[in-house]
Amino acid sequence: MFSAAPTTPAEYWDKYKPYRGEGDQLRPAAGAFDWTGIPGHGPGAELLGNPATALDLGPAEGENAAFLARQGVRVTAVDFSSAQVDRARRFWADEPRLTFVHAEACAFLFKEEQRFDAIYSTWGAVWFTDPEKLLPLVAARLARGGVFGFSHREPVVGQYGAQQMGGKWLEGRETELTVLRWQYTAEQWADVLKRHGFMSVRAEELPNPDRAALGTLLVTATAG
Ligand SMILES: C[S@@+](CC[C@H](N)C(=O)[O-])C[C@H]1O[C@@H](n2cnc3c(N)ncnc32)[C@H](O)[C@@H]1O
Repeated sequence: MFSAAPTTPAEYWDKYKPYRGEGDQLRPAAGAFDWTGIPGHGPGAELLGNPATALDLGPAEGENAAFLARQGVRVTAVDFSSAQVDRARRFWADEPRLTFVHAEACAFLFKEEQRFDAIYSTWGAVWFTDPEKLLPLVAARLARGGVFGFSHREPVVGQYGAQQMGGKWLEGRETELTVLRWQYTAEQWADVLKRHGFMSVRAEELPNPDRAALGTLLVTATAG
């Protein structure tokens, strides 16, 4: 019997934020740039400087990319989940400065020839890709002085480097699929980024307002 259970990481992410409502799904608000997933909490797009072009790695529904596009930034948003890209294209069809690309982040960066003023990822592909593969590719596509920024959930103490993500984390899963995510402390990220030639590294933990919940690890750096 046919099983809809994912067998690749991209299919796994097809199950992210499934829509179970009636009629067309309404697009999310894009009223602010959000690093933390908690509306109104933490800094915003100012961390990216004043870019003319930006690349979003792992946008899913794409509201951060849409926010930047509405500020006048030309945004390319790359996600390897076909379901996420299809939905984001529907949501933001009226944003002329925003382009969604269906591709794996490293594959896209390897082929791309343009340099971007800002490259960012909010709980996105940077969290789920081996930094030893991804960071050289990001460095090569970041304009001189451009900003690389990313966030992920604050790691559980002692769980650093490549971590197996519980296969039943997303809804509608019948079978397990191991997906990896790479997470570090602020100090570890600073070392990893400097080793790959990034400068002006700022890495910090933003505590969750709900003290019982994990916060956000937020990192920015510039290209050398
Ligand atoms: C937890 S969601 C985060 C979505 C969004 N950035 C946000 O802030 O809500 C992770 C997204 O990253 C995408 N992703 C993960 N690894 C990727 C990769 N290697 N290449 C491209 N997209 C990837 C997934 O498909 C998914 O849409």
